[in-house]
Amino acid sequence: MRTQIVAGNWKMNKNLEETEALLSELSAKVPDTKAEIIVAPTFVNLATAVRSLQSSVIQVAAQNMHFAENGAFTGEISADMLLNIGVDNVILGHSERRSLFGEEDSLLEKKVNTALARKMRVIFCFGEELEERKNNNHFAVVADQLKNALFHLEASQWRQIVLAYEPVWAIGTGETATPEQAQEMHAFIRKTIGEAYDHELAEKVTILYGGSVKPGNAAEIFAKPDVDGGLIGGASLKCDDFLAIVKAI
Ligand code: 13P
Repeated sequence: MRTQIVAGNWKMNKNLEETEALLSELSAKVPDTKAEIIVAPTFVNLATAVRSLQSSVIQVAAQNMHFAENGAFTGEISADMLLNIGVDNVILGHSERRSLFGEEDSLLEKKVNTALARKMRVIFCFGEELEERKNNNHFAVVADQLKNALFHLEASQWRQIVLAYEPVWAIGTGETATPEQAQEMHAFIRKTIGEAYDHELAEKVTILYGGSVKPGNAAEIFAKPDVDGGLIGGASLKCDDFLAIVKAI
């Protein structure tokens, strides 16, 4: 059985008071589930999140990280800083980082290397844009994103990798990939990993779907055999919506 995860990417939302309020509501209402539950508040509220979730099953992730150990990188956050406050999950490669902040596969490769060297778990995001899907190029794009940032890894390092397939056209748009589209791509991702490594390794990799997952569509997406959970944006900002999605798994 693969690890199932429902993770909330809060993006640039929630100030300190709002973070505390949402976390205490989540902790109070969190259902019993075999799935791991992760929240990713903004950097400035991570230490608070770790403290307020100390006795909760809910884990904390950062939304990004720099690859360097330390140094003259104004505005950046290192692995050491995250680990030092108790954060050992990090989202890397989100499409907003790629498209709005120019993060390319070669940079992401370095970030992945640093995170893994520091024994962190990486939630690695990737996915095609609308034009690429329209041109029937989506499988090639996704295969390249994986190959460029991850296929240099040793097989044993894949234990620290969680994948999050997030088609860009479905992020924050209200348009979700159909469960069939998600399954088709997840199966392709698993096949691609299987060819680069081996089938057994590929079967163990947790692959999340992200892009307009809501309480109303989560169950049918999660029911697909190669979908192991979700990375949730907008719907993770409301306690009841996020927990309804957790319950759907
Ligand atoms: P939405 O759920 O708001 O579409 O965002 C998905 C996402 O980008 C999660 O990382």
